[in-house]
Amino acid sequence: PIEQRVEDLLDRMTLPEKVGQMLQLDARGDLKEIVLSRGAGSILHASPEAMIDAIALTQRTRLRIPLLTADDAIHGHSFWPGATILPTQLGMACTWDPALLERAARATAIEVAATGLHWTFSPVLCIARDLRWGRVDETFGEDPHLIGELGAAMIRGYQGDGLDDPTAVLACAKHFAGYSQTQGGRDASEADLSRRALRSWFLPPFERAAREGCRTFMLGYQAIDGVPVTANRWLLDDVLRGEWGFTGTLVTDWDNVGRMVWEQKVCEDDVAAAAVAVDSGNHLVMTTPQFYEGALQAVAEGRLREHQIDDAVRRILRLKFELGLFENPRAPDAARQTQVIGCSSHAELNLEVARRSLVLLRNDGVLPLAGSTEDQAPKRVAVVGPNADDPHAQLGDWAGASGQVPWMPEGHPRHLVETVLDGLRATAPEGWQISYARGAEIGTLVPDPEGTTFPDGQPRPPIFSPASPDAGLIAEALDAARAADVVVAVLGDTVALTGEGKSTATLELQGGQVALLDALVETGTPVVLVLVHSKPSVLPASASRASAIVEAFNPGMRGGRAVADLLLGITEPSGRLPVSVPLHVGQQPVHYNQVRGQHGARYADLAQEPMFVFGEGLTYTTIEYRDLRLSAEEIPSTGEVTATVTLTNTGTRPALETVQVYLSDVITSATWAEQELKGFRQALVEPGASVDVPITISAADCTIVDVDGHRVVEPGQFEVRVGPNSRRSEHLVASFVITPTVGATLEG
Ligand code: IFM
Repeated sequence: PIEQRVEDLLDRMTLPEKVGQMLQLDARGDLKEIVLSRGAGSILHASPEAMIDAIALTQRTRLRIPLLTADDAIHGHSFWPGATILPTQLGMACTWDPALLERAARATAIEVAATGLHWTFSPVLCIARDLRWGRVDETFGEDPHLIGELGAAMIRGYQGDGLDDPTAVLACAKHFAGYSQTQGGRDASEADLSRRALRSWFLPPFERAAREGCRTFMLGYQAIDGVPVTANRWLLDDVLRGEWGFTGTLVTDWDNVGRMVWEQKVCEDDVAAAAVAVDSGNHLVMTTPQFYEGALQAVAEGRLREHQIDDAVRRILRLKFELGLFENPRAPDAARQTQVIGCSSHAELNLEVARRSLVLLRNDGVLPLAGSTEDQAPKRVAVVGPNADDPHAQLGDWAGASGQVPWMPEGHPRHLVETVLDGLRATAPEGWQISYARGAEIGTLVPDPEGTTFPDGQPRPPIFSPASPDAGLIAEALDAARAADVVVAVLGDTVALTGEGKSTATLELQGGQVALLDALVETGTPVVLVLVHSKPSVLPASASRASAIVEAFNPGMRGGRAVADLLLGITEPSGRLPVSVPLHVGQQPVHYNQVRGQHGARYADLAQEPMFVFGEGLTYTTIEYRDLRLSAEEIPSTGEVTATVTLTNTGTRPALETVQVYLSDVITSATWAEQELKGFRQALVEPGASVDVPITISAADCTIVDVDGHRVVEPGQFEVRVGPNSRRSEHLVASFVITPTVGATLEG
């Protein structure tokens, strides 16, 4: 019946009403213009009041088609004061736990839905490669398999058991596709990508999302090989709809259609841009109001056919019917908001996610601070660093940092954000002394000295100005460090250094932070370095003298409490890196799954290995891996093989171990990655206990993309490498053979 209702409504719509449905407009504009004059089908960035006004205005339109409301609730509901803010997606990826992320997305959906939103622009399925890119924090890291698993879990969480459930919201797989393949890390720069490279690495997470039933996809801003994604019919139509059978709705990114005129200059005017956009398979057009006039004119001139508009509108109406908006427009529900926004069960879940997101990267035994039974003496802890007590740095981007969201001028209420300082003060055992010194500033955004506008009149965004080391702040920190048994130095970056259009040329710690760390390690007091930042930092030489390093990324509202719990040994570290951490910015890209066969691909002046590898993360115990066995030595190209390994906890504390299975296709018809993650599984191992962990790989996981761009299983020998991270020296290895089977080629 939904299809029937769609067709029935479509039949009754005029062409302007249909084109109006294709508009997604910024609700911070004139709502009468948006809803009544243009008849927009969707709005985004609506303040609580605007949301209510816009819904009321739709009642004054001829057909009263409900509005689809959308926003970027990408790690919690960023646009609602007091909503639950989770770790960033990169932080959540460190959990390597799809089931946990599904629960996190479900909680977000419940909060988002109560505020009248039907749609969140999440998850981001871009692959983090050049870490100078400003949006690495929004990704699940560098591995297509991990991204696919975690993305699919979040999609399930957002969309729930069915879209007609009023707590379900539409998920959005973005940015389709290849957006992260920047030049020099610069956001939205042209992607130098072949179709084979797209099919090899960039498309698989999106295919996974489409097959998971993700109802919407958002485009990237960039062009690939000269073609803006907005005009890429091959990607939008042949692949997404044709090959993957996507029946949902595509939305452009911000003014993508306008950009084809004023920025990319591949269309001479708005009429041409509208024609190209529709012809290429776009459905909803974000924040290009002039698409309305452009598309009407394009139809009048015969450059577009009405049935092409119908195809797009059909998909938009279908979503509205699937959500049941005609029966229940899902307006903001104040009573429900009181019940669910930031409720205690979401706060508990947030703490669980934050705890699981922390990655212990080094520990000489200083941690846990309150760990051993022999050493129960009260400790003096000096908490130092610009991010030890900074709520904005801790929440990261898309979290309503002060000034980012007009109707949340102060950001989220301060008391809801537990910083590392708050966490240690709240959880340290009685008698412990916690002192605090800021120690350094990082820097701020300032107007670009090159001017306020670009030559074409577009505004120039501000640029980052690093702070100088401050001798007074350092002296205070050193006094605190010398009077303490241990220093917890919380360093990292700021929201000024992350986000759309805020890529960085460097990855080093900015401002006075390096000078601070250099001075702290000289005091002789053991230093625990906690990193609160949007993406991996290149650490200074003095970091090698830190007794412990904890990677926290942007750990969300409860992140400081989670860090305190880990430092004190209240919880066990279990996170694993979803991204390689470079030694030097010049190593970019340093992802683990590089194409092999680059004999000279070394630097003469720099090690090739990153500082920390993909998958790395320590526990407070030691886990021995032994006895890797495979269920078969030979399988057909439609079969599967199970790798089982035995883990033994040889230490004194429990651990949640993430067993990782990497596959190496020994000989391939085209060059390919030396190894790729194909499976992972978490196992709780108590001290002294042994557990068997089986992980199954199907032959369909054993594919490469051949020179013709087909994904195929190539029969032959495969090496299974199992270990606690991607480092080959830590792997147990076994081999199996895939035998040829007729008709086993996998396309797609
Ligand atoms: O969803 C975002 C996208 O990721 C980047 N550009 C703006 C969109 C809407 O806010």
